[in-house]
Amino acid sequence: YGSLAGFGQEALNIIIPTLLIREPPPLRPGDIRGPCPGLNTLASHGYLPRNGMASPSQIVAAVQEGFNMENSLAVFVAYAAHLVDGNLLTDLMSIGGKSHLTGPDPPPPATAGGLNTHAVFEGDASMTRGDFFFGNNHDLDTTLWDQFVDFSVRFGAGNYNFTVAAELRHQRIQESIATNPSFSLVSPRYYTAFVESVFPIAFFVDGRKNDSQLDLSAASSFFLNNSFPPDFFRANGPRTAKGIDQVFEPYPILPGGNVGKINTYTVDPTSADFSNFCLLYTNFVNETIRGLYPEPTGVLRRALNTNLNYFYQGINNSGCTQIFPYGKD
Ligand code: HEM
Ligand code: MG
Repeated sequence: YGSLAGFGQEALNIIIPTLLIREPPPLRPGDIRGPCPGLNTLASHGYLPRNGMASPSQIVAAVQEGFNMENSLAVFVAYAAHLVDGNLLTDLMSIGGKSHLTGPDPPPPATAGGLNTHAVFEGDASMTRGDFFFGNNHDLDTTLWDQFVDFSVRFGAGNYNFTVAAELRHQRIQESIATNPSFSLVSPRYYTAFVESVFPIAFFVDGRKNDSQLDLSAASSFFLNNSFPPDFFRANGPRTAKGIDQVFEPYPILPGGNVGKINTYTVDPTSADFSNFCLLYTNFVNETIRGLYPEPTGVLRRALNTNLNYFYQGINNSGCTQIFPYGKD
């Protein structure tokens, strides 16, 4: 094998073609998947541990290697999730439901509950997952998948693209307003709802095609099988949530939610919105994270500070001032 070291991917492709067949092995008992088709796929193929337990640094490396997610976005999203859903002492987070494999529970109200945990990162009006109110916020819902396909056929001639993304984002928000009395669309979900609408375009389109048109066969592989399509090439350069304006502008909406009854959408002026990005960061730290960890001490406080520092590194080029809710070490 040493003699292969100098060969590029093309040469390896010819010499050992079977290496590139990337059918993932089936799930083993106890392997966990969750609400994110991107991370699920990375776990299926071993870019992340197959059991679904990962550290934020493993997630940053995996989303870059597998999908070419731009580094600062990867850092920001991975550490945001870890801070609210992960175990800060063992440095492990479940990409789905709560698992003892991430270690002993933190002091309440923190739960280290994994990505399925509602309303700290996961939120309502997902494209292919139901609202938490209806009982399952993490498994693919076949009715919603059918709608994803139908919209891609009607608005994208068989591809998921920015036009489809805008229509489907609007549709899912209107459905939640009309059916979910506890529907919430405030920061951070206000952002992630739009960001996730463009992720399939940024990351699931084959890098050789690179035309912002996700065909339904590739989409099915990711969403239905948590699996790379056969012979998939990742994006041919670092990708961000570019195009979010094309999803937002056809149907602008302010952050808010229903107030205990369906069809009562009420704007929440305290939530961050697209005109105030630093408030996303500030509210996430001061409300969401401090809500989970009101008075940490000792190693837990140090772990929070370490992870808060990494989290801030993900946006330190946005001109937001770093905040230190637990003091500086
Ligand atoms: C949804 C986490 C990276 C694609 C989600 C959700 C979470 C999550 C918690 C559920 C939110 C919700 O819909 O309620 C993360 C974390 C990442 C990451 C922590 C670390 C960087 C990625 C990547 C991709 C991706 C690299 C694409 C390759 C998606 C998509 C959805 C989603 C398409 C929306 C699913 C839907 O609405 O049905 N992600 N994600 N994510 N994620 Fe990720
Ligand atoms: Mg959701």
